[in-house]
Amino acid sequence: MIYVKNLCKSFGSHQVLKNINEHIAPGEKVVIIGPSGSGKSTFLRCMNLLERPTSGQVIFDGVDITDPKTDINKIRQHMGMVFQHFNLFPHKTIMENITLAPTRLKLMKPDEAKEEALRLLRLVNLEEKADAYPGQLSGGQKQRIAIVRSLALKPKMMLFDEPTSALDPEMVGEVLEVMKNLADEGMTMAVVTHEMGFAREVGTRVMFMDDGIILEQGTPEEIFGNPKEARTQEFLSKVL
Ligand SMILES: Nc1ncnc2c1ncn2[C@@H]1O[C@H](COP(=O)(O)OP(=O)(O)OP(=O)(O)O)[C@@H](O)[C@H]1O
Ligand SMILES: [Mg+2]
Repeated sequence: MIYVKNLCKSFGSHQVLKNINEHIAPGEKVVIIGPSGSGKSTFLRCMNLLERPTSGQVIFDGVDITDPKTDINKIRQHMGMVFQHFNLFPHKTIMENITLAPTRLKLMKPDEAKEEALRLLRLVNLEEKADAYPGQLSGGQKQRIAIVRSLALKPKMMLFDEPTSALDPEMVGEVLEVMKNLADEGMTMAVVTHEMGFAREVGTRVMFMDDGIILEQGTPEEIFGNPKEARTQEFLSKVL
């Protein structure tokens, strides 16, 4: 699905990603963990070119998206991204938020987009909010809508950057549930999260990032049960 080759990213003289080589296969659910500032968000953002790599390549679905000739907006349609903050349009209804991109991009006719939006809203149990505005929703509901909005473009892969860390604790579960269902349906996912329960349960692979590299990775059992690196052990002892 996605190949990352010799990926380096610097901000000024600060090298944040240090020659990362990775491959995520279709259907994998990769969970990325690690200390603050280790480069997790930057890594995720380089995958869909929200950050332009300083050097190296990102090949998504056979296309070198780091090639300046590639139409990145077209590629991004196939790579949904959900952030900590939901970025819904406040003055548009939930339905409008979801159907805006598919209709503007002429991927669907308005009726079709609406029908698909209702189908997705039913999946996250928010059908009755179609005509509400984002301000009338709870944080957890807004985040579920943000996920639905990404899914409306029928992405091949979903990137999540700490999607639950801005939520009140009682709303975390409902968002993780939606992500878990998505995983069960076979979606390819890369998820930065501090939710170790989710990482264990849903992750097919866990990457531990430290200081701009993927220091260690493996199955959840390997990383949580028997971490090899001292830095991983130290990190896990603090978060588990
Ligand atoms: N746009 C930017 N300009 C300059 N420095 C940046 C920028 N974005 C990130 N950095 C720096 O890059 C480093 C890695 O940041 P990044 O956001 O990727 O870390 P992270 O692992 O996601 O951390 P957190 O867990 O706190 O979200 C940090 O030192 C950060 O200050
Ligand atoms: Mg981050």
